[in-house]
This record gives sequence, structure tokens and C-alpha cells, in this order.
Amino acid sequence: MDWRLTFPTLRLLMLMLMSALAKNQAQAQNIFNIEDFGAIGDGKTDSSKALSDAWNGGCHSEGTSVVLIPSGTYLLGPLRLIGPCNGTIKFLIRGSLKAFDSPQLGIDHWITFRYIDGLTITGGGLLDGQGSSSWQHNDCKKKRNCKALPVTMRFDFVSNAWIHHVTSLNSKNFHFNLFSCKNFTFEHVNITAPDESPNTDGIHMALSTNIFIRDSAIATGDDCISLGPGSENIHMTGIACGPGHGISIGSLGGSPNERPVTKVFLGNSTFTGTMNAMRIKTRAPSYQGVVSDITFQDVIVKNADNPIIIDQQYCPSKKCSPQSSQVKISNVKFINIRGTSSSLVAVNINCSPAVPCTGIKLRDINLECDGSGGRASSACANAKGATYGRQNPPSCLEK
Ligand SMILES: *[C@@H]1O[C@H](CO)[C@@H](O)[C@H](O)[C@H]1NC(C)=O
Ligand SMILES: *[C@@H]1O[C@H](CO)[C@@H](O)[C@H](O)[C@H]1NC(C)=O
Ligand SMILES: *[C@@H]1O[C@H](CO)[C@@H](O)[C@H](O)[C@H]1NC(C)=O
Ligand SMILES: *[C@@H]1O[C@H](CO)[C@@H](O)[C@H](O)[C@H]1NC(C)=O
Repeated sequence: MDWRLTFPTLRLLMLMLMSALAKNQAQAQNIFNIEDFGAIGDGKTDSSKALSDAWNGGCHSEGTSVVLIPSGTYLLGPLRLIGPCNGTIKFLIRGSLKAFDSPQLGIDHWITFRYIDGLTITGGGLLDGQGSSSWQHNDCKKKRNCKALPVTMRFDFVSNAWIHHVTSLNSKNFHFNLFSCKNFTFEHVNITAPDESPNTDGIHMALSTNIFIRDSAIATGDDCISLGPGSENIHMTGIACGPGHGISIGSLGGSPNERPVTKVFLGNSTFTGTMNAMRIKTRAPSYQGVVSDITFQDVIVKNADNPIIIDQQYCPSKKCSPQSSQVKISNVKFINIRGTSSSLVAVNINCSPAVPCTGIKLRDINLECDGSGGRASSACANAKGATYGRQNPPSCLEK
């Protein structure tokens, strides 16, 4: 062995090791492990204060801080994690966060993130909303002034966020709710609740722009994704939806001065056993509103009741008046939509007599009737547009 060669090599290795250790230490200062703040992952001890303290530590730090939920099951009550923070936060869920079993009626959230710029939630962990014993307390179908159940995660005024590789199970109400968010991406998110669970929408948004939802599986008792007023530039691809009520724009027109829903794209997605697949719904009567520039492309529908549906006669309180909707729908494209419908009307475009739909485009539609043996058909009212390529069922759009 030649010592003259190995000694400098060894010294170099030592230097590299020391610098790696120093770097590690610097990083370690930015990890806020909830166990260091008193959390106990036994599934029984309330760890809300520990998580809140770990959050505050991360939020006060500059650079990127990691709020770490290690493996284990941590019981959490309703919690607000509020910014603005001095840096960005990575909320790393290795284990499970478990909500209380009780319904907690009238509290609108389980975990709320508010006023945050730069947030990542990841780690392969689980958000267990423990909804099953609470769903029976949801009486919002019967009562106007019902007390709502908590939403698993609310994001209010959050920008530049990336939620990926997390599972949300059995939310009490919606799984994720976005209000006034910007540049927000969901990727490889798994959302699961039974098909009979009430109001367990996967992702609901309003007043939010540049929202991306990719490669995610959503199975719920209500809409897989629902877009409320002011949803703009929404891009959804690789969504496997079902069971559930499908992907829904609306309902709209229920309040005055609603912002438009515009620039929405859904591509490369499948719907399996859903009530609706692609839906736009507005109330009747309604306030004024706008839905424009919506594209559904390369979508496979397996056994949905209403694969394509525009419904401008939506009246959930069952007192539907003959007055028409004032929400104007224009430039909606359905391109390369294939599969099966479990009802005879596979394409239902029921627009408002007051403001008819314009610029509806149907290109390469092939929807068969599943099971019943009948032929799939289309239904149209006040719907103007054009067709291209194959049309099964035959289109009924007016030119
Ligand atoms: C941000 O850092 C400044 C200076 O270190 C500090 O005074 C302030 O409290 C921090 N803000 C938050 C939200 O922690
Ligand atoms: C959007 O947010 C991501 C973080 O999730 C960030 O990396 C990216 O730079 C942001 N894009 C814009 C245009 O701000
Ligand atoms: C989603 O999570 C549920 C519950 O953990 C699991 O049963 C299901 O297999 C997962 N689905 C996907 C597509 O990963
Ligand atoms: C479509 O989505 C599937 C499922 O997420 C994905 O595997 C595939 O790569 C996507 N294809 C395109 C062309 O985006």
C-alpha cells in the first residue's frame, strides 16, 4: 500500500464527513418533530397542542422547516395552523393523524391552514377523519340551518402549495376545501369514503386560481371534485373517480355577485360507477353568473347514471320554480368521451331558456347504454353548438 496516496485521500474523506455532519446539524435545527413537543402516537392521547407548538416553531423559522409527524397514530382535535410564516413549511406525515370519533357539529374544520405562502404536505401518511359515526348527524338535506360537520383539511388564503402522497379517509364532511388559494397542486392523493357517506366531497374549491389535480384516486359519497364560484384556471388530469357523484361545476347562481368559473380542463380520467361524470349545475331561479371555457377530453366513463350533464334546473330544496337560471354557460367542449351509461339519456344538456348555452362542442362521443339493453339517447333544451366526428348517441344540439 502506498501511504503517500492514501493519507490525502483519507483527509479528504474526513473533511467530506465533517461537512456532511455540519450540514445535517443545520438541517436538524429545522425539523420540528411533534414528539419533541409532547405528542404521543398511541392513538389515544390528544396531541393537538404538540402539533400546534411544532407548527409555531416551524412557522417562526426562516428557510424551509419540516413539521414531522413520525410513524404512529396521533389523535387530534380541531386545529388552526395559521401564518404568515417566515419561511416555507413541509408538513411531513409519516404516520397517521386521527380525528376524534365524536361528530363535533358546528365546528367547520378538523385542520385549517390559513395565510400561508409555500406549503408542502406529503410523507405517505394518513388523515383519518373518523367520519363513520358522525354521518348520521348530517341533517343538511332536511334542515336549512343545519350544523355542518368538520371538513378534514381547509386551506384559506394558501398559495404555492403541493399536497402529494397522502391518503384521506372517511372525512366527516368534505375531505379538502380550498378558499382563495393560488398555485396549488394535488398529486398522488388517495381520497376514500363510502359511497353512501353524505357530503364527503373529495376536493371542493372556490375563489381559487391555478389549481392542479393530477394522478389521484377519489372515491366518495359526493362529488369527487367540485368547483364553486371563482374557480379559474383549474387543470385536472389522471383522476380515477368513483364511486361518487362525479366532477361537478356548481351548483352556481345561489348567491349574488358570484365570480365566473372559467378555464377548466379535465383530461385523461376515468369515472367508475358514479352518479354523474361531467356535470355543470346551476340553480333555478338564480342570480347572474358565468361559466365559460370548459374542456373535458379523453375521458372513459364506466357505468355512470349521467355521463354528460348540464343541469340548469337544480333545486335542492325541492321547491323548484319555473323561473329560469341566469347563469350563462358558453364554450364547453366534450372531446373523445367513451364508455357506458347506466341510464338511457347519456348526454343531457338542459340549459336555461333565459340565457341559452352557446358554443357547446361535442367531438367523438361514444357512449353505450349499460345493462338495460336500450339505446343511449341525448336530451337537449336551449343548447346551441356544433358536433364533430362520431356521435353516439346522436346529438340534439341546435346550430
Ligand atoms: C420572523 O422573524 C422575525 C425576525 O427574526 C421575528 O421578529 C418574527 O417574529 C418572525 N415572524 C414570525 C411569524 O415568526
Ligand atoms: C407554484 O408552487 C410551487 C410549490 O408548490 C413552486 O415550486 C412554484 O414555483 C410555484 N409556481 C409559481 C408560478 O409561482
Ligand atoms: C386508497 O386508500 C384506501 C384506504 O387506505 C385503500 O383501501 C385503497 O386501496 C387506496 N387506493 C389506491 C388507489 O391507492
Ligand atoms: C393518464 O393517467 C394515467 C393514470 O394517472 C397515467 O398513468 C398516464 O400516464 C396518463 N397519460 C397521459 C397521456 O397523461
